[in-house]
Amino acid sequence: MAVLLTGGTGYIGAHTAVALLEAGREAVLADDLSNSKAEVLERIEKITGKRPAFYQIDISDGAALSKVFEAHKIDTVIHFAGFKAVGESVKKPLDYYKNNLNATIEVLRAMLKYGAKNLVFSSSATVYGPYGESPLKEDAPTGCINPYGWTKWMSEQIIRDAAKAHPELSCVLLRYFNPVGAHPSGLIGEDPNGIPNNLMPYISQVAVGKLDHLTVYGDDYNTPDGTGVRDYIHVSDLAQGHLAAVSYCERHAGVEAVNLGTGRGISVLELLRAFERVNGVKVPFEIGPRRAGDVDECFADTQKAASLFNWRATRTAEDMCRDAWNWQSKNPRGYEITSKA
Ligand code: NAD
Ligand code: UFG
Repeated sequence: MAVLLTGGTGYIGAHTAVALLEAGREAVLADDLSNSKAEVLERIEKITGKRPAFYQIDISDGAALSKVFEAHKIDTVIHFAGFKAVGESVKKPLDYYKNNLNATIEVLRAMLKYGAKNLVFSSSATVYGPYGESPLKEDAPTGCINPYGWTKWMSEQIIRDAAKAHPELSCVLLRYFNPVGAHPSGLIGEDPNGIPNNLMPYISQVAVGKLDHLTVYGDDYNTPDGTGVRDYIHVSDLAQGHLAAVSYCERHAGVEAVNLGTGRGISVLELLRAFERVNGVKVPFEIGPRRAGDVDECFADTQKAASLFNWRATRTAEDMCRDAWNWQSKNPRGYEITSKA
């Protein structure tokens, strides 16, 4: 039986595809390439020696999705496809609700039509909003402060309601904390459009000389060094977390929300210093004002993932920094220019 990865050529999808193929699973990728490149498929093949089937489709196009289910025996879907830029979602809320919610609805419809039972959904720690206290447990209060976050919150609810009406479904809502880093080969990694919003790709692009300096958004937070604290998780650990979630789904029914993080908070300055130390590069920075919507700290309680999945993140902040730089330095323009990696 095959695993369908919607959004499979994206950052987390590509790393999960590699992990699945290396575990001997059949992976089928579907993506409209709105935020990724077909070149990813060559890279996956270089790493694993296998080329997954690929469909360039809009997941919210039910007829196109049906064709994928008709061509393969799919029992599990990992649903990554969606728009993910918080700032853009504030400017284009309707595009975000339309794309992210319709994609989730059509995935569920196709699963029910073709008898696929297992769904792993890419949710986000953003569903905890600025309300919960870290370490965040899965039963902490939820609620969001931007349209992107609400699309994750609402998708979770849609999945819960579908599973209530169709008890044969088995669904895991994975709440990722801050995915960073890249495959150690340097062949696949994060390739953001334009100027990055997130910290690690910003640091990498300053280090490679594409950007001048990092602005640290505030040094007056209630944290040990005053800068924001987050739970950065290596994307390869995250990929393994998906494999664990798939195997959990295969043995259970119902819905579970599960955090994927390390449980360890790291400040902006700590991450920056680790990046400089591990890679022997300088990352000039200046302290700027706080960014709207940011919280002091956000990190996971990881007990539930450990007990349900028998999974824990193992890679260190140093691994994250080394692999992020390996990818960035080998692919200074992302997938645009083929690297010699
Ligand atoms: P990404 O943008 O690299 O991957 C998402 C993929 O989905 C892209 O390849 C894009 O082309 C595709 N896509 C979008 N809409 C589509 C549609 N209608 N039909 C087909 N393909 C479509 O993002 P990522 O970082 O790999 O994130 C994967 C998922 O995890 C997303 O749902 C994202 O919201 C979620 N997530 C990401 C983070 C993060 O920091 N990267 C954190 C929490 C949650
Ligand atoms: N930061 C800077 N300078 C930058 C970028 C970020 O100082 O140029 C700081 C932020 O203020 C924050 C930390 O680095 O303290 C991390 O910021 P990111 O933008 O990398 O990550 P966030 O935690 O803000 O956001 C991430 C995802 C969102 C998701 C959110 C909640 O990008 O999609 O986690 O889970 F909604």
